[in-house]
Amino acid sequence: MQHAAMTIDPAFRIAVVDPRLYGSFVEHMGRCVYTGIYEPGHETASPDGFRRDVSALVRKLGVPVLRYPGGNFVSGYTWEDGIGPRDHRPTRLDLAWRSYETNQVGVDEFCKWARRVGSEPMMAVNLGTRGIDAARNLVEYANHPGGTHWSELRRRNGFEDPHGIKLWCLGNEMDGPWQIGHKTADEYARLAAETAKAMRRVDPSIELVACGSSHQRMPTFGDWEATVLRETYDLVDYVSLHSYYEQHGDDRGSFLASGVNMDRFIESVIATCDHVRGVGQHKKRVNLSFDEWNVWYQARFPGEDNLDWGTRPRLIEDQYSVVDAVVVGSLLISLLRHADRVRIACLAQLVNVIAPIRSEPGGPAWRQTTFHPFSLTSRHGRGTVLRVEPTGPSYETSRMGEVPVVSATAVHDEEAGTVTLFAVNRAQTEPLTLAVDVRSLPNLVVGNHTALFDEDPEATNTMDSPDRVTPTRLADVKAVDGTVTAVLPALSWNMIRLRTT
Ligand code: AHR
Repeated sequence: MQHAAMTIDPAFRIAVVDPRLYGSFVEHMGRCVYTGIYEPGHETASPDGFRRDVSALVRKLGVPVLRYPGGNFVSGYTWEDGIGPRDHRPTRLDLAWRSYETNQVGVDEFCKWARRVGSEPMMAVNLGTRGIDAARNLVEYANHPGGTHWSELRRRNGFEDPHGIKLWCLGNEMDGPWQIGHKTADEYARLAAETAKAMRRVDPSIELVACGSSHQRMPTFGDWEATVLRETYDLVDYVSLHSYYEQHGDDRGSFLASGVNMDRFIESVIATCDHVRGVGQHKKRVNLSFDEWNVWYQARFPGEDNLDWGTRPRLIEDQYSVVDAVVVGSLLISLLRHADRVRIACLAQLVNVIAPIRSEPGGPAWRQTTFHPFSLTSRHGRGTVLRVEPTGPSYETSRMGEVPVVSATAVHDEEAGTVTLFAVNRAQTEPLTLAVDVRSLPNLVVGNHTALFDEDPEATNTMDSPDRVTPTRLADVKAVDGTVTAVLPALSWNMIRLRTT
């Protein structure tokens, strides 16, 4: 059996986790909104048309923030289409996903539903086909108490109190040629700066996210962030990162090392932010909003231009395996290890579209494999992230070079008196013993060990077999002379809970 070791010391603090690290994303795309969260006529639908079965799963998933309404969708969106009496709302062509958008869900319904499921909305404004005026009007509509054109319209629409949306994204992936209204870095930077200024004048309490690159393989990656931040540094709070991971061919070793790739991506963007900070002699730090991340088998997607026009089309409804869940767990570990700078992150997306929750029109809703590491990390990964540096075996990958077999982090909740370890064993056939030196926490006793693994790494959850893959409780954790040991099964995601007496 292989061995790895690490030390936990509450003095080595990275940061208190911002709960918004466990966010997700609702886009008007495919069946995320229509027949996902919203399906009037479904047997579980609430009077306002939202599915209660899906809402219950969203609550269990634990997503303190929900980004909305896109994604590529937002770059052609007219938010005014989605307010007021539903039977007066127009159906439009959504050019991003070649879909008919009926506008039956808009900003008011979404904000109300988001609060109901325990989330705060994070709203993106359209900087593709629109700009400053539409954005500042939306802030006025959503956040101004009353007495003005847009705030009174909200009140007449039945929303007396402002929605109080704190977080706003200045467009989406504006560096991408696929984006409606795609811009060069200079064009976007000027528009983002002026839009930010106007939005802040309406509501100075908001926080703003500037678009970073669509992904780290973009030819303009790095230069884009630097150009945008030079222009917007004092006007924004965060820069966005997006990244999707998939297994290429049979190269599972590289896929399992996706967290290493995420680490490098995050560290590159931090370097760019801090370079601009230094050159511009700015006091504040711009932090990171990793507002789209997940496993997505993009190789199976035909591309936007090859889609047929449709209403609620089944778009990218990837079915996730045990391996995918282990990778999602490892990506959460990577985010936690950078919790000092990554303050917001959104698992993309929430329901049906590359999502941890699936639903069938007129049918049931169920949890995908990836639901489990996410919900457990969201529930127990609260407190202060501690710096841990595991030592142990490594292996060679074709995409990422040599990578460690174990990836891990620890979160200390001083108030609750708990330390929770999250660890992934990337070895595909061999279990591994993890030894954790906990001498600096002398009163620590063993709680429990929960792991996600399976004899069949390709096993999935389906409508007919919704609980084929669930976490397993293991009774193997021992504490002897200040060392806690546990066996991490081959190809597994693990959570080990310890508490102080
Ligand atoms: O999440 C799916 C799509 O991926 C989003 O619309 C876009 O922002 C990204 O490219």
